Amino acid sequence: MAVRFGCNVERSTNAHPPLTRAVTGSAADTIAALIDGIAERGHAIGRAVLPEATLAALRERVASLDAAHALRPAEVGRGEEQRRHAGVRGDRIRWLDETSPDAAEAAALALLDALRVACNRSLMTGLVEYEGHYALYPPGASYARHRDCFRDDDTRVISAVLYLNDGWRVEDGGALRLYVEGGRAIDVPPEAGTLVAFLSARFDHEVLPARRPRLALTGWFRRRPLASGHGHPAC
Ligand code: OGA
Ligand code: MN
Repeated sequence: MAVRFGCNVERSTNAHPPLTRAVTGSAADTIAALIDGIAERGHAIGRAVLPEATLAALRERVASLDAAHALRPAEVGRGEEQRRHAGVRGDRIRWLDETSPDAAEAAALALLDALRVACNRSLMTGLVEYEGHYALYPPGASYARHRDCFRDDDTRVISAVLYLNDGWRVEDGGALRLYVEGGRAIDVPPEAGTLVAFLSARFDHEVLPARRPRLALTGWFRRRPLASGHGHPAC
């Protein structure tokens, strides 16, 4: 079911731009549906989770970052093992800057933070922060099958990807292929306003090559690391 987010962002009534925006109304319904999916299956998909204008502004933001050469080829691995590997992963990324004054980015982060708080309340996840980046996959680029966790760091609990691509058609490719239970896979087209959330340590997934540039805001909700010496590998 497509959940519409007509007026989910509460605006302050004074003349100045609001400093904080509360997620209200149908946003709360979508968050509740996402939480139910995560609780029941470990993964969930929301559609039209932000207004069209916000999604268009986010597209603009990625385009201007790219024009300013602010997107950098993504790397795989961590620490000394971290390196570029275009055959594994072909996107260009820019980590979000919390101090950005961009209003659309603030609206997306408000929605994601509401999801974080709701997860903590309903699923006892203890999520303390969100880390995210814009990702641009040029035509033909992909991300090979992987899991969103590192051997030495299991603090990523939930992955959340918000797609920004207007008028995406199935023949454009670029689906997120999520390998779920029972040997099944779900293909999620990266249509603007679709938000997919899943347990980071549980599901393999991959990004299929697309015929068009493919934009997303990709991120992870993290919990606090366990005290040193008590960690355990996530995958
Ligand atoms: C990732 C990832 C999925 C997507 O960045 O780790 O799996 O659909 N992205 O962009
Ligand atoms: Mn991933």
